[in-house]
Amino acid sequence: MRRGEPKLTRGANRSPSCKGNCIGYGVAVAFVLAMLCLMVSTQFSSSPNDSESIPAATRQRSRPGQVTVEDGGSREVEEEVAGVHTEPLTGRHRDKQVESELRRAEKNPTDDEEQSLGNERYSDHWEERRQRQEKDTVKFSEFGGGTDDFNNIANKKLICDTSFGKYDVCELEGDARAQGGAGATVTVVSPRAAPREWKIKPYSRKYLDGLKAVTVRSVPNPEDAPPCTTRLNIPAMVIELGGLTGNYWHDFTDVLIPLFIGARRFSGEAQLLVVNLLPFWVEKYRKIFSQLSRHEIIDLEKDHGVVRCYPHVVVGYGSRKEFTIDPSLDDTGGGYTMVNFTEFLRHAYSLPHDRPTKLNHQGSRPRMMILERTNSRKFMNLPEVVAAAEAAGFEVTVAGRPKASYDEFAREVNSFDVMLGVHGAGLTNCLFLPTGAVLVQIVPYGRLENIAQTDFGEPARDMGLRYIEYGVAAEESSLTDVFGKDHPIISDPISVHMSGWGNVAEWYLGKQDVRINIERFKPVLMQVLEHLQ
Ligand SMILES: *[C@@H]1O[C@H](CO)[C@@H](O)[C@H](O)[C@H]1NC(C)=O
Repeated sequence: MRRGEPKLTRGANRSPSCKGNCIGYGVAVAFVLAMLCLMVSTQFSSSPNDSESIPAATRQRSRPGQVTVEDGGSREVEEEVAGVHTEPLTGRHRDKQVESELRRAEKNPTDDEEQSLGNERYSDHWEERRQRQEKDTVKFSEFGGGTDDFNNIANKKLICDTSFGKYDVCELEGDARAQGGAGATVTVVSPRAAPREWKIKPYSRKYLDGLKAVTVRSVPNPEDAPPCTTRLNIPAMVIELGGLTGNYWHDFTDVLIPLFIGARRFSGEAQLLVVNLLPFWVEKYRKIFSQLSRHEIIDLEKDHGVVRCYPHVVVGYGSRKEFTIDPSLDDTGGGYTMVNFTEFLRHAYSLPHDRPTKLNHQGSRPRMMILERTNSRKFMNLPEVVAAAEAAGFEVTVAGRPKASYDEFAREVNSFDVMLGVHGAGLTNCLFLPTGAVLVQIVPYGRLENIAQTDFGEPARDMGLRYIEYGVAAEESSLTDVFGKDHPIISDPISVHMSGWGNVAEWYLGKQDVRINIERFKPVLMQVLEHLQ
């Protein structure tokens, strides 16, 4: 160790002076840890209560022609701060390290071509997408062609759209029948279409390992479908939980926002048929679920001996971008935006503040919530940051791990005009800020700007928040204390990104704390005040 033992490098097992050897060594370590992680995540499937052991985000990004490597292939939002409302568990540090290393392993292409597709695919690969869609389209020749029937079929929407790399969606209309049990099947009676079958993983990131598949079938005759035991004249949605839920940011990005996108159009009338139902998790977000569906949630895997029939079943859900809604890409059935989603949340949680407090109200100081993390990416000089914010005129509250229930915590967040925190899942709480409030994201050292933008910058703007980013300089990073300014980790972050996601996750995200230079930071506080004028 160059400058004394780095107190922040928990479990550091790597010499910072490895320099040229870092890459080869990193690959070997990543492999071993990835195998370990596979074991851990396999275990998870049988113990859903251990939500903390779920591997964090793995997002495949492929941008042909783009030379920059800032987002290094995939990334995660760690969940410690999100941990503002999850219980601390032992063994979490180890899991976290393992998780971050898994990211590298998962970057490898697999035999399933779709697993290697990025979420930019939709916009970047129109042509390929169109071709795939044609492949999925029912062929004219199968119906003799040239008749009116034929034209109807040609104009009919596809039942399943599997062309997008991130998630699949099927629309079953007319006579749709859901049969539960292990390996659920949803059948649509579609007299004019040729029989077809799809295996759909109805989760918002279909490329993840360990998801369960639902069979979607199209049959020409009612006799080919299982006989109905219950018939409801409401729509239904088949969705899968699990995946990366348990990480606070993923709870919203992967499930709650996609569910809003898919279910909002039904005004609470859709029944949810859920694969991998996690009752404790649904209970945490009960207020959101109950607004999106007023009907009983069905555990599809335990729904034995029943065939539920509906006039309309949607299988699958997802969103095109991360942690936001893009109304031009996400079909919400009503042009809903992220502003509408946050309004929806305020309604669901009965939150009183739609707008931040105006500064010119006599005697009122703008309220700032500073999120403090517990593992990595901590403030090393939090008292100074607090003092500077107070001197600038803010009433400051530091939030660590509130004892309050989730519902109470949402209410508390809603009472603030400004949220400030280092990049991490805790910033997910900005969903509860009033429209027009300010989010300040502190971006740790190491070329993490793209990640910061995708995960929170763009979503915050979409929510109608004022967004300010503060990039930590090398001098403000604990990694400089540990490695010295000449080590590649400080002097050449691009090379670290090029060496693989594992090193980015381990060092820049996993083992960095920040010491804010107050003089450098003061203009940010001034900017926040301007936004609140
Ligand atoms: C969505 O939000 C916009 C902007 O606040 C608003 O004008 C619109 O009425 C909302 N739409 C719905 C359906 O609530």
